Amino acid sequence: MSVAQLGSAVPGLALPMPLPWPFGRVHVAKETGPPSDAYLKFKEILLHARLDEPSAWHGQHVIELGSHPGGWTWVLLELGAERIDTVDWAAMDHPSIAAHPNASRLHHHQMDAKTFSVTIEAPDNRGHVLVSDAAIPPPLSLALLDDWLSARKGPAPRRVMWALKFAFRADTQQSGDDEQPSHRERTPLSEKERSLQAVAMAETLMASHSERYEWSLRQLYHHGNEAVLLAVRKDE
Ligand SMILES: C[S@@+](CC[C@H](N)C(=O)[O-])C[C@H]1O[C@@H](n2cnc3c(N)ncnc32)[C@H](O)[C@@H]1O
Repeated sequence: MSVAQLGSAVPGLALPMPLPWPFGRVHVAKETGPPSDAYLKFKEILLHARLDEPSAWHGQHVIELGSHPGGWTWVLLELGAERIDTVDWAAMDHPSIAAHPNASRLHHHQMDAKTFSVTIEAPDNRGHVLVSDAAIPPPLSLALLDDWLSARKGPAPRRVMWALKFAFRADTQQSGDDEQPSHRERTPLSEKERSLQAVAMAETLMASHSERYEWSLRQLYHHGNEAVLLAVRKDE
């Protein structure tokens, strides 16, 4: 997506032009509290999604996949989200999370993010906000996102911020063994080719949901070999 498109093509996600960050370099203040540096990219994502103010989070139910050790969760706790359901194989036991003044709003599910689903409605019945930083290979990650957008995992989310990670060994792309990369040889596809393949898959998936969602795929200043898919339900 070009910079010009960021300003106009996606109404629910449009940014003011010229962009508020010269050369797209978003400055995020360093903090000592968060359990991981992942808070830097999440704060940048929130600026892009225009959800960086506490007022955007009051009364919100958030589902966060791939949450350990808790950089994104810490930001959500600080912003005052009403309820946060985190999902990760690992525990959420970092002191900055466990001793946070809003820790009672956190409900951790220590399990496979691919099998997690919700039955509860968001407090205001407008649907939850879905965020994912789970390190899952693109085909599986996008299949999981499809399940959520198609309301197979619970009520369809009203907003989505979904990290698409490109840096996986080629032999883990299709097999479902995201947790246990095997030691087979890489296929001849380069990392760049696999990243482009993942972008094309994401575009195809989101085209199939474009009646209901506006969306945008962006690689941000704090991103390494990944991008973020932002989506907003059109009735939002
Ligand atoms: C990049 S880390 C997340 C960092 C986190 N966002 C933060 O701010 O600290 C990716 C996480 O995804 C989790 N993960 C990957 N695949 C998963 C799966 N299928 N189910 C549950 N957790 C998974 C890993 O355990 C890991 O904690």
